[in-house]
Amino acid sequence: MAIHIRDATDRDLPRIVEIEQLAFPTPWSLGAFRRELTLPFSRLTVAVAEKDPLPEGFLCRWLVADECHVLNVAVHPDYRRFGVGARLLGATISEAREKGADLVTLEVRRSNLAARGLYRKFDFEERRLRRHYYGPGEDAIVMELRL
Ligand SMILES: CC(C)(COP(=O)(O)OP(=O)(O)OC[C@H]1O[C@@H](n2cnc3c(N)ncnc32)[C@H](O)[C@@H]1OP(=O)(O)O)[C@@H](O)C(=O)NCCC(=O)NCCS
Repeated sequence: MAIHIRDATDRDLPRIVEIEQLAFPTPWSLGAFRRELTLPFSRLTVAVAEKDPLPEGFLCRWLVADECHVLNVAVHPDYRRFGVGARLLGATISEAREKGADLVTLEVRRSNLAARGLYRKFDFEERRLRRHYYGPGEDAIVMELRL
């Protein structure tokens, strides 16, 4: 499946919100994504297949000083397990390297085995636990990739 990664625009936001709502119990709002498009250190990318203009997934990252922080990544349920998440994350890591970052960080729910598997595939290390970060009983694992 030929997928390319490009920067999101305003026109992608409804689809991004749709994917977000299918992915998370407390989804970001349209306004939250719109704000990311205005922040100079933020980048919101989408994965798009050759034959369909509707994004299949998105990733939002901040690049501040030497650190790239992945804030949000999700793939539409119909397109999971086809390598879309890996393409989005791989592009972000390559960009971070090119821009001279030395660390990529993120938080993931302890119960989210799919995402933890994705990050481990890229050699992220599980560094520490933030207890109840996502609410009662929902711990976050802080993961880091040294570039
Ligand atoms: C996590 C998520 C983005 C992965 O996207 P994806 O496009 O399905 O992932 P890929 O097909 O690129 O898979 C890459 C690797 O991730 C791991 N992985 C992905 N889904 C998995 C699953 N359901 N179970 C276990 N490992 C999984 C595997 O290691 C996989 O490599 P493999 O296919 O060679 O085994 C997707 O499941 C999703 O949108 N989940 C809901 C939102 C979310 O949890 N986001 C992360 C928040 S921290």
